Amino acid sequence: MKVNGTPYRSLWWNTDAEVLEIIDQRWLPHDFVTQPVETMEDFADAITEMRVRGAPLIGATAAYGIALKMALDPSDTSLEQAWTFLNGTRPTAINLRWALNRCRAQLMPLPEDERASAALRLAHEIADEDVEINRAIGRHGLEIIKEIAAKKDGEPVNILTHCNAGWLATVDWGTATSPMYHAHDAGIPIHVWVDETRPRNQGALTSWELGSHGIPHTYITDNAGGHLMQHGQVDMVITGTDRTTRAGDVCNKIGTYLKALAAKDNGVPFYVALPSPTIDWTVSDGVVEIPIEDRKEREITHVWGRNDAGKIAEVQVTPDGTPGGNPAFDVTPARLVTGLITERGVVAADEAAMIEMFPEFRAAS
Ligand code: MRU
Repeated sequence: MKVNGTPYRSLWWNTDAEVLEIIDQRWLPHDFVTQPVETMEDFADAITEMRVRGAPLIGATAAYGIALKMALDPSDTSLEQAWTFLNGTRPTAINLRWALNRCRAQLMPLPEDERASAALRLAHEIADEDVEINRAIGRHGLEIIKEIAAKKDGEPVNILTHCNAGWLATVDWGTATSPMYHAHDAGIPIHVWVDETRPRNQGALTSWELGSHGIPHTYITDNAGGHLMQHGQVDMVITGTDRTTRAGDVCNKIGTYLKALAAKDNGVPFYVALPSPTIDWTVSDGVVEIPIEDRKEREITHVWGRNDAGKIAEVQVTPDGTPGGNPAFDVTPARLVTGLITERGVVAADEAAMIEMFPEFRAAS
């Protein structure tokens, strides 16, 4: 996607400096800061501190982390160490483990002197694949938006989204946003309700993305969605997911579950857009089995923003010493999901339907 007219991905390989570059998302939407990631500690920090974030993007970043480790020391021990080190950075999004497993499986059988170049090629492959997967998700999601638009007599299709499942959360296009970009580019009028997504306000990233692409949108509090649905102001919901079980439960940013409940109660279709690496075929019951990341209290008790003098600063919201609880994700049971928009098409959130669409995973389940 473009930033001030220049095409960007959320990460890219700087061929001159031979280093990975990222957008430091902590400063968005106010400052656009890019930076190299140069050491293993830097990779871990970038993922843990959410300079890079979003399930597909942390998977791709981790693959570049493995490439760095293989350039430093291509031994078996080093590969295992890098797997464990990077896998420990964030617990919920399965794309991280998926990318690390793929790297380990492809690199381990190779002679050590071939591993560094193969690891870098593989990281590029994972990044490029993510772009194509998300483009395909957009094409399939577009068909759903078209159907709804056909009943709206030229009025915009109102889509509600939660968190940022945009191009910033992937390598490009985004998952939930890809159908929106496709619809807008096809001339279908859409308007997006953007949940602010406390505590880190990833909705501001979504607003920045949509605004840069000229897509009409409105930033709303996390609690507004139910009210808007009751009043017929939401035609559909599209969110992303950090881990989807083989039964179709989706684990996404905290608050997604409440949106799904409100959508069910109001007959609003609730779609989840995902690349297939976000499916964890080893997990059936998302509520019981998916580890939910517990983040720092400070993300709840304090908030970052830009003041009128243009300075980006953090301010305290709560009284001194107030304890804060910060579960970062929740699980929406499959029964609340209208459909999963994948790179192969739209599938019911149901084990049999998912295996029919992805038969190669039959054995894993
Ligand atoms: O904590 P974050 O910002 O990494 O959480 C991101 C989300 O919850 C996204 O919705 C999810 O990763 C899907 S991204 C295409």
